[in-house]
Amino acid sequence: MSIIESNLDEKRSFSPSKHSKGNANLTKEDLIKLNKQFHTDNNKTWADLANTHILWDKNFTNVVSGEAPFYKWFSDGRLNVSKNCVDRHINKKNSAIIHIAENGERRVLSYSELYAYVNKFSYALSQLGLCCGDRVIIYMPTIPESIVAMLSCARLGLIHSVVFAGFSANALRERIVDCKAKIVITVDAFKRSGKIINSKDIVDNAIKVDCDFVENVIVYENHASLSDKKSRDLVWDDILPTCDINVEPISMSSDSLLFILYTSGSTGKPKGIMHASGGYLLNCILTNKWVFDLKDQDIFWCTADIGWITGHSYVVYGPLACGATILIYDGAPLFPHSNRFWEIIQDNKVSIFYTAPTAIRTLMKVGEDEPKNYNLKSLRILGTVGEPINPKAWMWYYEKIGNGQCPIVDTWWQTETGANMIAPIPGINTLIPGTCTSALPGIDATIVDVNGAQLTQPNQGGDLVIKKPWPSMLTGIWGDDERYVQTYWSKYSSKYYVTGDTARYDENGNIWIMGRSDDVVNVSGHRLGTMEIESALVSHELVAEAAVVSYKHEIKGEAIHAFISLKNNPKNKNELADILREWVSIKIGSIAKPERVSFSDSLPKTRSGKIMRRLLRNLARNERVTGDTSTLENESIIDQLKEIV
Ligand code: WT7
Repeated sequence: MSIIESNLDEKRSFSPSKHSKGNANLTKEDLIKLNKQFHTDNNKTWADLANTHILWDKNFTNVVSGEAPFYKWFSDGRLNVSKNCVDRHINKKNSAIIHIAENGERRVLSYSELYAYVNKFSYALSQLGLCCGDRVIIYMPTIPESIVAMLSCARLGLIHSVVFAGFSANALRERIVDCKAKIVITVDAFKRSGKIINSKDIVDNAIKVDCDFVENVIVYENHASLSDKKSRDLVWDDILPTCDINVEPISMSSDSLLFILYTSGSTGKPKGIMHASGGYLLNCILTNKWVFDLKDQDIFWCTADIGWITGHSYVVYGPLACGATILIYDGAPLFPHSNRFWEIIQDNKVSIFYTAPTAIRTLMKVGEDEPKNYNLKSLRILGTVGEPINPKAWMWYYEKIGNGQCPIVDTWWQTETGANMIAPIPGINTLIPGTCTSALPGIDATIVDVNGAQLTQPNQGGDLVIKKPWPSMLTGIWGDDERYVQTYWSKYSSKYYVTGDTARYDENGNIWIMGRSDDVVNVSGHRLGTMEIESALVSHELVAEAAVVSYKHEIKGEAIHAFISLKNNPKNKNELADILREWVSIKIGSIAKPERVSFSDSLPKTRSGKIMRRLLRNLARNERVTGDTSTLENESIIDQLKEIV
């Protein structure tokens, strides 16, 4: 029995021959061979890959060990992640980091400069009396110094937890307290859309009471000199040695924690997702090489902030371990003008561009035909992540940004998985707008029904699960083993890792993500993925964004409420609501027609761009808006929505 009904039908496809690549890191022959090897001997194949791609200080003999689901990867091996990311590339000719500030200033660091910088800061940190395993909070914008801070922690065996610089003092405090951080590293301030954000004041507020365990706050003077210096404060430049110094990277056990990254769960309390060293690094490297075909000569711009997992795996650890060049932009996408992204790609000859569907839709909304005014010929691969990309946005990205030449890698993964899990290999997979295609080599992703049996027929929706452990999997939730087991392993008697997403196969075996299992709606006995309905809605020319939730309905059990923001103000909203209902009916079927349609200027989103459906559910169900709203990007929208619902 399938869990969800799926009706969305996308017929366009783009053959790999259009993107045939002379010297891809992974050819079709390699892929076939690799899949065969995984099939024959899963552990040996991971071991071979780990030996090939990682610089080990001591070789491992264990591949995967530990008691399920507390798996350990390569546990008796030893390595240092910063050594893998920096030391082994110091002779490379290509740059390590190109940093573009919001005001347009450009800073470039070679690998040898990055090496010197990481060593200096590691030395400064090493003077603070910290022990391996101590936690360090990094609350900084995406600048070279935050990357240096991450790599320095890794060099000394300190566990970092990067907190997105847009989080409020409350959210920051919660994280600092949860992991009992000894050090907080921040900036005095930074600019976003021209506005100054005073990070140091936010840190001071966050740790004002009952945080004596925070021994020092290190402040990088990013904007101006630090005023109001407290006794625990240290200025970055003051503690940095003036001459070059080498700090021996500490050989860490492969299963020692590299970082904790907090992510939202279904309860109000964020989960501290833990990632270890060797396994995490391996999948980061492999996916950068396979999915993004990353090479030394590439300029890789992943627009994610370092405060998210994408920033960890596709800005910092993955690309640097591959010795490639990353571009980081420390600014708002539409500032000072709406073509900033295209300008940066043009001016810096970006070859790989990785962003989120929400950014693509925004850029499409503000300037559908603008990209043609920029030379984007340097691009060769485009990526998306974070939510299913609706076919309309996919086509625009493909045609207007990629000029019909660049494969789009729609990468499915999670904070918990550490690296891409389901994604096309450019030049190999046939691309269809809206599907992330198939699982990567070694990743045993499957779709199961309510009894945990694999679904074999196309277009039956079910739970997306991962059947075998993989190297970059989370190793747990900080301080909460029980929640780890409960959230990710309990549903199918600990047999599978449960992703929380629902998905279906199409006739060709491609995987289509249908949304979170908690976003499933059941209308008149039909279960539907809300994201499918959203995708149908945003494919209408007047719709900018849509979020679909359900509410209790007397006759149908549940009915659908669609929240919509439009590109322009319509003359007659009632008429447009009817048109959109009909549109969904044509695109999916009348069963998916939204009962209610509300229009507002925008939708409530987290600062990372995810629509907060939980809040919309509260509104649609006439409930009090509950839970944490501190991560909301535009708090005023809730009041506006309350008026109209
Ligand atoms: C959830 C994970 C992984 C980095 C960014 C978000 C959704 C992610 C896709 C995709 C459809 C996607 C899933 C997943 N998601 N990528 N390509 N297609 N859905 O990380 O905050 O941990 O969120 O984002 O629902 O479970 P995250």
